[in-house]
Amino acid sequence: MVASPRAFYVPVIVGTVRKGRKSLPVGRLVYSELSRRPGIETELIDVAQLPLPVDDAGEAIKDAGFSGKMTRSDAIVVISPEYNHGYPGLLKHVLDSCLKEYVHKAVGVVGVSAGPFGGSRGIQDLLPVLRELGLVAIFWDVNFSTVQDAFDDSGALRDQAYLPRIDKFLDELVWMATTLRHGREQVAMPQAEAPMRCTECGAEMNHHAEKVLRAVDPADESSVDPALGGIVEELHSCPACGANAWRRASARK
Ligand SMILES: Cc1cc2nc3c(=O)[nH]c(=O)nc-3n(C[C@H](O)[C@H](O)[C@H](O)COP(=O)(O)O)c2cc1C
Repeated sequence: MVASPRAFYVPVIVGTVRKGRKSLPVGRLVYSELSRRPGIETELIDVAQLPLPVDDAGEAIKDAGFSGKMTRSDAIVVISPEYNHGYPGLLKHVLDSCLKEYVHKAVGVVGVSAGPFGGSRGIQDLLPVLRELGLVAIFWDVNFSTVQDAFDDSGALRDQAYLPRIDKFLDELVWMATTLRHGREQVAMPQAEAPMRCTECGAEMNHHAEKVLRAVDPADESSVDPALGGIVEELHSCPACGANAWRRASARK
């Protein structure tokens, strides 16, 4: 692995608010294993602590704190318990509150279930959602089946076999995060021109992606690309400090 002078920021999102949730000790365990790794900064993000309203949806309810963490992230870990063969609705509500923040970032999913399949059915349903958000899913998962037996009353892990599985999962996640950071910061889109300047350090940024967004506000109609049917947003990353930024292609000077 090529050493990077900048730490990788890899938060762990606990995707349920259920009282007595077993996903919380799972999230704490993954957080603890990530924390041991040199060159990684992490934190536990509990969806129960996010002040998101439930009378609206999408980027309209963006929380500045969560958005900032997703913008800063190189990769995320999602702890997804299986609810009726799917993932929790509130997890999607939280993920839907951001969009450009996730583009070309790595994601790994840890499935949790009371039954024998370790949340795998929910993971399968979550993958196309993650893809639409612009995240790049790794091919390793961790599956906590019969999770009610996995930890003792103090929250300590009973079955040590989970540790090497988490280790392999994190190896792959960090590899993907390293590769995607290189891509965001160094590999330009063919049509890249008129580079943005980083507002953090002043360096020239790298234009690494574009995403078409639907115009919901009539005031945005003039920014719509008629051929693509939406507003083209360019994603830029700074090779010097890693900051991420975006602008409308229609605003390019
Ligand atoms: C609404 C709901 C639906 C559930 N559906 C399933 C299921 O389809 N398969 C399963 O193995 N466990 C199911 N469970 C049990 C969860 O997997 C169990 O609560 C487990 O501990 C992981 O979720 P937790 O973080 O809420 O504890 C369900 C739990 C709830 C609350």
